[in-house]
Amino acid sequence: MSSVSSKILIKGGTVVNAHHKEVADVYIEDGTIVAVQPNIKVSDDIKVIDATGKFVMPGGIDPHTHLAMEFMGSETIDDFFSGQAAALAGGTTMHIDFVIPVDGSLSAGYEAYVEKAKRSCMDYGFHMAITKWNETVSEEMEIMVKEKGINSFKFFLAYKGSFMVNDELLMEGLKKCKSLGALAMVHAENGDAVFEGQKRMIELGITGPEGHALSRPPVLEGEATARAIRLASFVNTPLYVVHVMSIDAMEEIARARKSGQRVVGEPVVSGLLLNDSVLWDPDFHFAARYVMSPPIRAVGHGTALQAALAAGVLQLVGTDHCTFNSTQKALGIGDFRKIPNGVNGMEERMHLVWDTMVASGQISVTDYVRITSTECARIFNIYPRKGAILVGSDADIIILNPNSSFKISSKSHHYRTDTNVYEGWTGKGKVETTIAGGRVVWENDELKVIPGAGKYIEMPPFSYLFDGIDKADAKYLSSLRAPVKRSTT
Ligand code: URP
Ligand code: ZN
Ligand code: ZN
Ligand code: ZN
Repeated sequence: MSSVSSKILIKGGTVVNAHHKEVADVYIEDGTIVAVQPNIKVSDDIKVIDATGKFVMPGGIDPHTHLAMEFMGSETIDDFFSGQAAALAGGTTMHIDFVIPVDGSLSAGYEAYVEKAKRSCMDYGFHMAITKWNETVSEEMEIMVKEKGINSFKFFLAYKGSFMVNDELLMEGLKKCKSLGALAMVHAENGDAVFEGQKRMIELGITGPEGHALSRPPVLEGEATARAIRLASFVNTPLYVVHVMSIDAMEEIARARKSGQRVVGEPVVSGLLLNDSVLWDPDFHFAARYVMSPPIRAVGHGTALQAALAAGVLQLVGTDHCTFNSTQKALGIGDFRKIPNGVNGMEERMHLVWDTMVASGQISVTDYVRITSTECARIFNIYPRKGAILVGSDADIIILNPNSSFKISSKSHHYRTDTNVYEGWTGKGKVETTIAGGRVVWENDELKVIPGAGKYIEMPPFSYLFDGIDKADAKYLSSLRAPVKRSTT
């Protein structure tokens, strides 16, 4: 039976959704799940995949990637085709990438990304960065939401001199996001203080990759996270904190959530699993691979982030996949400020999260589905089309064998980049089959991807995070308008 069959029956596996798991068959036709129940019978000409003893789960959704992004004088080496092909081999079937405006223009940025994404072999959506503020940007945000299927905007509080925005811009952006039902996202590091930290390191003669981490310590991530959270509270709009890398930032999110504020925290795989010792490696080329922002932190931060994820303090896992090859990373020899920031993760995320969180016993299989897929689909308002194995959902499905194992190496990964920050890692659990849009794209360690087969997924505004926000506003306004009985004598 050919792998391009539009009808597939997955038999006998444990079907896992975020809310429930059960042994059942899954029947797919023309890219959609049409039945989920035990003992489905089909005719002989239909492709049957035996999933006995394995987990049948929604394909991963990576909420945070940078494919073919122009950044720090380079362009990320993995484009929409190579990054997505690798992701499919690792069990991710959709990602959301960040559109970068062109000279502040959102529409020019959007058009550029439509072009970049033409060879997509996997479904994708867009967030958009806001790097400038004026009336045109404000109007373009509305067009992006109402006509282009974008429901989230990212504000960089770091990268002074390029993407960074000040508090005034952030507040305008938060207000606009709220009015459109779009989710505000922040890269939370204090860019002015990072700039100061970088000068300090250079003056001390610390020019290698360790200077990157030393120049932007956790306190600067904690400060910016707290500031963004407080401004979002002042505006009364939900906030999504991308790449939470430190205990400092995580604790600000925990405090806000405890007080009832709608704040989402996204750790990324590198922050959960790696520690900063690699940045002190005497080989520049090795150490530079690990340079990303916010930096990979000291031992202890990663395990604390894992615990926060297990406890629901943090809600979903991304990668911040942003790859530069050895030649590009070498731009920063002699000056860590010039090392293009970013690490890989799109292909490894599902395996590493399984091994670290499920195989280790930290979370349940249903929670695994929630943090790698379902919660992302809910937050970006595409659930249950994505993020679920339900009748009517897109047929984006993985089959994971918990008794098999994986090994990571730049020699076998599917990226275009030439190194891998998880080189040599092994673990329990292997994605043996990936079905994307109803097609088997990964089977028997073989990729069968088609450029152009990936669809753009429009994401509508006003996700569940906005439910009830208007009621809180009305209560606040009526409290302001209550007459003050004041004596004048
Ligand atoms: O180092 C990183 N994180 N590179 C990608 C850009 C960003 O800040 O997300
Ligand atoms: Zn960022
Ligand atoms: Zn070297
Ligand atoms: Zn990023």
